[in-house]
Amino acid sequence: MAALSLEVRAKSFPAVGTAPEKRVLENVRLSVEPGERLAIIGPSGCGKTTLLNIAAGLDRDFEGRLVRDRSARLAYVFQEPRLLPWRTVADNLRFVLFDDDPTEVDARITAVLAEVGLEGTQAVFASRLSLGMARRAALARAFVVRPDLLLLDEPFVSLDEPTAQHLRLLLLELLERHRTTVLFVTHALHEAIMLADRLLFLTASPARVLAVREVPLGAAERRDPLAVEACRNRLLAEEAELARLLLPASAAAPSPLAEVAPG
Ligand SMILES: Nc1ncnc2c1ncn2[C@@H]1O[C@H](COP(=O)(O)OP(=O)(O)OP(=O)(O)O)[C@@H](O)[C@H]1O
Ligand SMILES: [Mg+2]
Repeated sequence: MAALSLEVRAKSFPAVGTAPEKRVLENVRLSVEPGERLAIIGPSGCGKTTLLNIAAGLDRDFEGRLVRDRSARLAYVFQEPRLLPWRTVADNLRFVLFDDDPTEVDARITAVLAEVGLEGTQAVFASRLSLGMARRAALARAFVVRPDLLLLDEPFVSLDEPTAQHLRLLLLELLERHRTTVLFVTHALHEAIMLADRLLFLTASPARVLAVREVPLGAAERRDPLAVEACRNRLLAEEAELARLLLPASAAAPSPLAEVAPG
């Protein structure tokens, strides 16, 4: 049985004031097998977060069907870290461990903070963390529940590239070690290739499934930026529709200006 299977025939947000009703998703079907890592890639504003909220069961107002094992532990890393700023790092993690054995909670928190490179920050208030540290803490909060299914919404957006790459490598390590089933959203194709087994491309709004592709890279190649870049370029060169979706217009098609011979 799939870890998650979802069919959204239609999802709209109702009209508010002068803003008309907005159709966001149309005929989006996906399923994630146990242990699989599926990335959803789509342009800005196409409906990725909406789709993830539906997959999480947070938004039930859609036409379609969500099938998920109710006993599976779910963790959701939101697009913003969403820590409680007035609580310490340890308390932010303790908050999601309310029904776990209190005698082992502290040890688990210490271990997971070490895994994400935040050792010794238990007593630091979340409001004092840099964005990179807050994103690490959000990852720690997700992994500390030992999730069967992990949902991630652009977990590295608005970080500088070296920090983002460092955290991608860290996440890859954690995912491989824990063999976590993942549904993961990004607008960056290289990030998806690095982290996912399978890529699902969404069109611009209202989002439909444009294509589904396997990632043919092994564990070592995923860690090699040149191999990831080559895979990305191959995909975009072979598939004009994906290039149109993901590249700026000037890069996807020869610019008419480029064809004007000088003189
Ligand atoms: N609660 C809401 N009410 C009305 N419209 C909404 C609501 N949430 C999202 N939308 C609209 O639905 C569309 C899809 O939003 P969503 O946040 O799912 O896109 P996204 O692909 O995650 O965007 P981004 O790439 O910026 O994260 C957008 O046009 C957004 O304005
Ligand atoms: Mg979003």
